[in-house]
Amino acid sequence: MQKSTPTPSTTPTNAERRPGPSVAMYRTTRFVDSSGRSHHADPPRSPKSRPGQICVIGGAGYVGLTTALGFAETGRRVVAVDIDEGRVAQLNRGVSPIYERGIEEMLRRNLDTGRLSFAIDPVDAIAQSDTIFIAVGTPASANGRPDLSQVICVSETIARHLRGYTVVAIRSTVPTGTTATVREILGQDHDEGVDFDLVVNPEFLREGNALEDFFYPDRLVFGTSSKFAGEWMRELYRPIISGENRWNEGKQDRELRPTPLIETNLTDAELIKHAANAFLATRVSFINEVAAICERVGADIDQVKAGLSQDPRIGESHLNPGLGFGGPCLEKDLTALVTIAEDAGVDPVVMRAVLDRNERQVVSVLSKVRGLLGPSLHGRPIAILGVAFKAHTNDVRNSLALRIAHALENDGAAVRVYDPMGMPQARNELHQTVFCSDVYEAVKGTQAILVLTEWPEFAELDFRRVRRLVDCPIVIDGRNVLDARALRSNGFQYLGIGRR
Ligand SMILES: NC(=O)c1ccc[n+]([C@@H]2O[C@H](COP(=O)([O-])OP(=O)(O)OC[C@H]3O[C@@H](n4cnc5c(N)ncnc54)[C@H](O)[C@@H]3O)[C@@H](O)[C@H]2O)c1
Repeated sequence: MQKSTPTPSTTPTNAERRPGPSVAMYRTTRFVDSSGRSHHADPPRSPKSRPGQICVIGGAGYVGLTTALGFAETGRRVVAVDIDEGRVAQLNRGVSPIYERGIEEMLRRNLDTGRLSFAIDPVDAIAQSDTIFIAVGTPASANGRPDLSQVICVSETIARHLRGYTVVAIRSTVPTGTTATVREILGQDHDEGVDFDLVVNPEFLREGNALEDFFYPDRLVFGTSSKFAGEWMRELYRPIISGENRWNEGKQDRELRPTPLIETNLTDAELIKHAANAFLATRVSFINEVAAICERVGADIDQVKAGLSQDPRIGESHLNPGLGFGGPCLEKDLTALVTIAEDAGVDPVVMRAVLDRNERQVVSVLSKVRGLLGPSLHGRPIAILGVAFKAHTNDVRNSLALRIAHALENDGAAVRVYDPMGMPQARNELHQTVFCSDVYEAVKGTQAILVLTEWPEFAELDFRRVRRLVDCPIVIDGRNVLDARALRSNGFQYLGIGRR
């Protein structure tokens, strides 16, 4: 079959329509084939092309806001789009719905310079940006598979409003194969002169450390399907990769090193994120299982952990015994990887066991409470210190502390809660609980204290004062953050996780 003869024509791209020194001028060549369809003969790309404005969709969420702030701080113009009108209004006033160290200062600084703005309507933001990050949620659906409806919905919106050449980067955690779906959606409903590249750029931030993780990532992963998109991403992240223009708050002495870059294909990048979280979850379940052995054989997990983590092949990370892995990511992503494995015909025996161990951990903390207080908790006052899923965040999504609080409420216990940051969110979840303004109020008259989030302030409590306030001096340390010896010498019965 003879090929149609291209009829070249030139069209101005969105890069040309937009002002700004960093936006290169380039032209796209278009041809019309025998069926009358218009194609790019040469994509509107050239080494001179440079990323201009960024749009972050889901920009009021944890990942979206961190991404938007991070790029604005490096000097880019960023529009963060979100359907949550309340959050968008709040953010435009300089108030962050998310607690992260340094977040409001950075937010206000970038609003003041005009580099950053928040919007509900995506139309202009998409049309005027040449990089779009998708950072919406991918929660678990009932069968454990990620619910991709938010990603699909925003891809449809992007497809309708794309202009010129745009890099669409998926920042959300998505299962392998998602990019094929997104690519198909983005390929529809185009105006002429539109072209895009799809990138998977997974986010590895740790809540409580989110901004620092943006500016000092362990690694960056760019899954791309074209060399050009890889170059584009390197240019966007240049200040981070090179170490220049970094956020240096309190970190003047930090060793600057180039950021390791993993440039690979879309499927690898999708899988890297799920595999990373599954591996971290595996370490947590492993150490919790070793802690359970410690309790039975009279060993001490602190000593065992010290002996393990000094081995450079093992290291320290995610080896803190505790309630297990909660929060918005690890369990969801591990469960997703189980379904990905099953779909691929792999029996995920290790990963299922990791999930199983995690379920048992909450049960084991509850049985410690019942073991110490007796089988009936009805009417027994119990203090819970910490409901955020981890310290330095106000996020209570899938918090195991909340799960324990619910179980105690269901047993009829009179639960009293204090958390330095997570109280407003916890109020929406716990309905029979008394919320207290500080630790000392929370422990007043209680028969057991459960420390369920590793906030540093809990380790620094005046336990002599606490001893005078409680009805019964029992402490269950679900995070191994307290000084067991000091507590015992103050007359407390202390139970940690795997501690002697
Ligand atoms: N939270 C983390 O620690 C973390 C870390 C790494 C990766 N991730 C992944 O990043 C993704 C986002 O997670 P998150 O914790 O930031 O979620 P989030 O719920 O905090 O944020 C998602 C945001 O998307 C917005 N949104 C939903 N539909 C939208 C639409 N159609 N248009 C515009 N905005 C829309 C929501 O209003 C919300 O603000 C998930 O895939 C998650 O697995 C999260």
